[in-house]
Amino acid sequence: MERVANVSDVLREMRKVRQARLYGPDAVPDDVVAELLEIARWTGSSRNTQPWHFIVVTDKEQLRQISEVRTPIHWVADAPLAIAIVLDGQSESSEAFDEGRVTERLLIAARLLGLGGGTAWFGDASQQARGKEILGIPAERTARSVVVIGTPTTTKDHRPNPAEPGRRPLAELVSYDRQGQVKG
Ligand SMILES: Cc1cc2nc3c(=O)[nH]c(=O)nc-3n(C[C@H](O)[C@H](O)[C@H](O)COP(=O)(O)O)c2cc1C
Repeated sequence: MERVANVSDVLREMRKVRQARLYGPDAVPDDVVAELLEIARWTGSSRNTQPWHFIVVTDKEQLRQISEVRTPIHWVADAPLAIAIVLDGQSESSEAFDEGRVTERLLIAARLLGLGGGTAWFGDASQQARGKEILGIPAERTARSVVVIGTPTTTKDHRPNPAEPGRRPLAELVSYDRQGQVKG
């Protein structure tokens, strides 16, 4: 497999992928949406089950209703587009993993395409049921989140109770050969 020509640019951008919650008013162009959906389609899944369906949401009223499912996702109301990830509901643990993989690919692809994105979780079972109701998703399917895409105006967490920014250092996160063992 060949090394990607502009690999240092790609890796630098991947490191900069952050959760965006505030977006400018521009719509996400159709060709960009198509590209993102192709990226999503080619995501690997457990036993290649591809247990997903994607709902592209641009309708302002739909976005507003989603934003009201849970206070920490109020910002969804002012975003130009969201992609709801609907899972078949056949295997809770593997579909949760698959959902994470497809979400992260969408966020990375959005960044590489000069946009940004963020994940917005519906919340507990009753909030998920409300999300499904808004989006016309059958009750037996799993729908936990939407991936929001747009042109970010900031990646600062503007919410009243923001998540702690930054990352723990690698020295705290990595061991070699056995947990707790430092590099010899
Ligand atoms: C499982 C999961 C659920 C999340 N749910 C929300 C959410 O409902 N609302 C929100 O604003 N951010 C949500 N986030 C985004 C996190 O707050 C964000 O990834 C974290 O604060 C790191 O942000 P950063 O990459 O910008 O540093 C969620 C992230 C994950 C992985």
